[in-house]
Amino acid sequence: MTSELRHAGAPAHIAIIMDGNGRWAQGRGLSRSHGHTAGAEAAIRMVTACAHRGVRHLTLYTFSTENWSRPKEEVGHLFDLLARLLTRELPVFLANNVRLRILGEWSELPFASRQVLKLVLAKTAHNTGLTLNLALNYSGRGEILRACRRLIEAGLASDDVTEDRFAQELYTAGQPDPDLIIRTSGELRLSNYLLFQAAYSEFYFTDKHWPDFDEAELDAAIASYLARQRRFGRTGEQAEPAPLAQGD
Ligand code: IPE
Ligand code: IPE
Ligand code: MG
Repeated sequence: MTSELRHAGAPAHIAIIMDGNGRWAQGRGLSRSHGHTAGAEAAIRMVTACAHRGVRHLTLYTFSTENWSRPKEEVGHLFDLLARLLTRELPVFLANNVRLRILGEWSELPFASRQVLKLVLAKTAHNTGLTLNLALNYSGRGEILRACRRLIEAGLASDDVTEDRFAQELYTAGQPDPDLIIRTSGELRLSNYLLFQAAYSEFYFTDKHWPDFDEAELDAAIASYLARQRRFGRTGEQAEPAPLAQGD
């Protein structure tokens, strides 16, 4: 399946809502922290899997602004995990030409997390392979308001506020919109994720909990994406035919 997908052309940008760590752990009689640890390993596996499939941008919903309302110990564990795994994975990112970007107000994160993020951002800044966006302390509405404020501060005339100019003030400036948004664990909502950028994304939902999301699941999501016709408002006849819908 993998070589076939590579041949067919993987989506340039995949964004994932990694949900279900808690339920995965609960089903095994483990703590939520165990679930997050397993989920973090699944995320790391996905970086390499996407890089191998020719995906150019991978955006992982890692911590939302709403997630601050979770128990203090759980939040602490999540940030410890982030610092530990990024430190461990830095050599792998360098070997695989992965560039790290952060979406969200990461200046508000704990000091130790910020130190590691700064290091990995600096070390990977000139890499030219897959861009790994971690959405950290991220809010889609917050991102849109931030863009408005930045345009006002830049003194733009209202006529100059175009969609392209607006997008330049988003955390994702310079990157394409997600082609495919995946959410695990059976929930059918965006939870404040990439609200501006998701305008024409394709969606893929699976009941699998995030720690169980593996390469076969990724291939199933990409195959589903490739079988669709993205019409962008046009008729089916006007739009390009879907690559896998032509009898192959
Ligand atoms: C996703 O798993 C991880 C984060 C939101 C950080 P959850 O922790 O939301 O798992 P469930 O939804 O409780 O199962
Ligand atoms: C969304 O998952 C945020 C992340 C995956 C980081 P949540 O589990 O926090 O979403 P809701 O609260 O169920 O919508
Ligand atoms: Mg959840």
